Amino acid sequence: MMQQIQLTGVNKYYGAYHALRNIDLNIRKGSFVALVGPSGCGKSTLLRSLAGLESISSGDLLIAGERMNGVPPRKRDLAMVFQSYALYPHMTVEENLTYSLRIRGVKKAEAKRAAAEVAATTGLSHLLTRYPRELSGGQRQRVAMSRAIIRHPKAFLFDEPLSNLDAALRVHMRKEIRALHDRLGATSVYVTHDQVEAMTMADHVVVMRQGVIEQQGAPLELYDRPVNRFVAGFIGSPAMNFIPASVEEAALVLELAPGVPQRLSLARSLPEGEALMVGLRPEHLRLVSESEAKLRLPVGMVESTGATTYLTSASQPEVNVVASTRVTPAAGTMMFLSFEDQHLHLFDAETGMRRDFDEAFIRE
Ligand SMILES: Nc1ncnc2c1ncn2[C@@H]1O[C@H](COP(=O)(O)OP(=O)(O)OP(=O)(O)O)[C@@H](O)[C@H]1O
Ligand SMILES: [Mg+2]
Repeated sequence: MMQQIQLTGVNKYYGAYHALRNIDLNIRKGSFVALVGPSGCGKSTLLRSLAGLESISSGDLLIAGERMNGVPPRKRDLAMVFQSYALYPHMTVEENLTYSLRIRGVKKAEAKRAAAEVAATTGLSHLLTRYPRELSGGQRQRVAMSRAIIRHPKAFLFDEPLSNLDAALRVHMRKEIRALHDRLGATSVYVTHDQVEAMTMADHVVVMRQGVIEQQGAPLELYDRPVNRFVAGFIGSPAMNFIPASVEEAALVLELAPGVPQRLSLARSLPEGEALMVGLRPEHLRLVSESEAKLRLPVGMVESTGATTYLTSASQPEVNVVASTRVTPAAGTMMFLSFEDQHLHLFDAETGMRRDFDEAFIRE
């Protein structure tokens, strides 16, 4: 499989600050890769390092097989699309599109033809004579993308391109960008702090924290098998529930207050006395009858959006449940919950690393 972008052992320092730590990342030609993580984790730094706007301190960066460390941005043949699209306000849409070609010596007629062709792809044909101030947010975003497309770059680099748009337009533009990526057979690297955006748009998601890649893989791989508690809590909405637990006499004892500790017997024992953290996603908890329950928790809050009911327990820690049925248990009453064994995640309480174990829990 051809790698369009390859990073090996990349580190980046801003003075003494270690912003990227030993980054290994392979981006296949034609893939859509999302970089996601909390604010300040190094997403923009990584993207800007690809573009050549930042120089890397050590490691190797290859683009289409060529070593690019130290190569200036304009020679890397990548197109960057930012959150503030920085269109030239005194130029029409067409002029904004043709500008980069014209300064590289492309003849006027040829540049106009290229602009028309790209505008047809991005749905801007009827707006070529408008000025940026005469466009909606979504249309401006499309101009910014068209301006990138017209250069036929080796890859598109997006840095939170949708964060200025309202929620509905964001969802629409997500689909549009992904469809455009597919149509062009492009390679895209897309920075966002919105994990839902990353999960729905990308075929490869890279989760970062404090300059480190915590996990990367297909979206559902991250959802199904997060390697640690951080990724488990970051991917998925609403977030995964975490409940402290310990191993006692071949059972997993969940520490939920108030009430007696709840025991789930294990098919095969984990080391006795081990401190663990149980992870259960809200959408994997089902309301069941008392006799089927693996967990029993007092109801705290009930919120319904019509299609979905969000239940929060009145326990410590709080447990969230997402039910697709319309249920209205009263606060203070008990909810009886169950889950499929494969949906229970275990993490080391200290290191946060995933623990693999033999599934099969039976309520004791
Ligand atoms: N030019 C710089 N000089 C010093 N430190 C910097 C510089 N640029 C970024 N940093 C630091 O590097 C870290 C990573 O910044 P970066 O902009 O890559 O984060 P990010 O993941 O894009 O965050 P956000 O989601 O807020 O955009 C931050 O702690 C930031 O303060
Ligand atoms: Mg950023």
